[in-house]
Amino acid sequence: MTNKFYCTTAIDYPNGRPHIGHAYEKIVTDSYNRWYKMKGMDTHFLTGTDENGQKLIESAEAAGKDTAAFVSENVEIFKELCVRANIQYDDFIRTTEQRHHVAAKDIWTKLESKGLVYHGHYSGMYCIACESFYTELQAPEGDCPEHHKPLEKKEEEGYFFKLSDYHSWIVDHLKANPDFIVPKSRYKEILSRLEADDLRDLAISRPTQNWGVPVPGNDKFVMYTWFDALINYYSALSKEQREFWPADMHVIGKDILWFHSVIWPCMLKAADLPLPKQVYVHGMILAEDGKKMSKSLGNVVDPFDMLDRFPVDTVRYYLLRNISANSDGKFSVDELIAKHNAELGNDYGNLLMRVIKLARKVMPDTVFTGEGIKQEIEVEDIVKRASEFMDKREHNKAMDTIWELVNHMNQYVNEKAPWKFKEDIENFTPIIYNCLYGMSAATYLLQAFVPQTTETATTYIGADIEGSDLLEFGKAKYTLQHPEALFPKIDK
Ligand code: MSP
Repeated sequence: MTNKFYCTTAIDYPNGRPHIGHAYEKIVTDSYNRWYKMKGMDTHFLTGTDENGQKLIESAEAAGKDTAAFVSENVEIFKELCVRANIQYDDFIRTTEQRHHVAAKDIWTKLESKGLVYHGHYSGMYCIACESFYTELQAPEGDCPEHHKPLEKKEEEGYFFKLSDYHSWIVDHLKANPDFIVPKSRYKEILSRLEADDLRDLAISRPTQNWGVPVPGNDKFVMYTWFDALINYYSALSKEQREFWPADMHVIGKDILWFHSVIWPCMLKAADLPLPKQVYVHGMILAEDGKKMSKSLGNVVDPFDMLDRFPVDTVRYYLLRNISANSDGKFSVDELIAKHNAELGNDYGNLLMRVIKLARKVMPDTVFTGEGIKQEIEVEDIVKRASEFMDKREHNKAMDTIWELVNHMNQYVNEKAPWKFKEDIENFTPIIYNCLYGMSAATYLLQAFVPQTTETATTYIGADIEGSDLLEFGKAKYTLQHPEALFPKIDK
């Protein structure tokens, strides 16, 4: 399959309710998926939940619930979030599903048959929140680098993956594929970590607690949750869908980069499977005070609360344009409201309203055609630059670029002042036609980011064609419909 785009989010731990970071990752991935679909690619978008860890057993116990029931309840909330945030995924994988267990066992068996999985002993410093061992180099003070809590000494008998065999291979792979990890800063971080420390074999089993994917041939053990979780990206694809493999883009946060950029490629290499094309690392959403969100600080933003209070596209727009695609960003409700009012409401919504209302008033029941109309609005360069930013995984800059068109259209309307030509249809029509062309081009380009709004705006503009044809000046005939305010003002 040549024209395909397979993208994934990380699969979330359903040990509680989703927070705004989970929503952010899904919205970002959804926008890329919609963008490439809009460009005519055969897209596939996978999200899901990571359900096999020890953490899930403990959280269920703390809630006084049966693990399976507890997990299923929470999974429904994650799915509900996808509906509320307008996430158009093609598939949602739960790692407790049969299809996942089968594929994880197949890969395990293959590695074992090649001598790349072996039985042995391991002792190390472990963080239960990460479900991960850390070396002295990674945690010199004995504290988890992610959670800043003391690591526990853990001794284990179990199975190991010969990760140490792959040190020079993965370094070579990264050097030969500089876009394998985006952004560059993350790429450099992983390369320097690999240069500083050898890879050690990875403990990939845990004693069973009757929860998890059983190790083939030894039911005293289940797979270490990260080992099985990474496989979700592959296990979700049915035999017919395997042509989507390898994934074109794994979207993740920086806290899980090592697993995706080192362990996962090594697992695939060992299993003789093609490697994903890219790991795109987004920034973290921080609380308004710039601190990491945490339950104990009480600064966690609940995405459902935001989606109850604000239109879905206001939340999407704010997260996508205001948080830099490549670095951490603060979530501020005041800022969200300000952007809603100024950018979505004034720049975009009002532009549409005033042009369409004026045109309908001056020339009711008119179909605006491009015949004989001179082009005064150019969009080619905007489309090209926005596309380049998307390909570089800088969606906020792609949106800035589309906004250049929105701003330019406002300037055009103000300068041309079509309201002065109410009695002069010959001069009025070309201005309106150019406005409708520019607005429909901007609307077309914005559909990946604010899809509900653009769907409504498209009906107001009433073009008789769709898709990239809208970018060709003169091609569309517009039959305007009565518009309602797209983003009514929100008071603080
Ligand atoms: N289950 C693992 C991922 C396994 S993928 C094979 C996991 N789950 S998680 O629920 O903790 O995180 C899921 C995703 O959300 C990760 O990519 C993580 O980086 C991201 N985020 C968690 N907190 C976040 C923010 N505050 N901001 C943005 N993304 C955040 O890790």
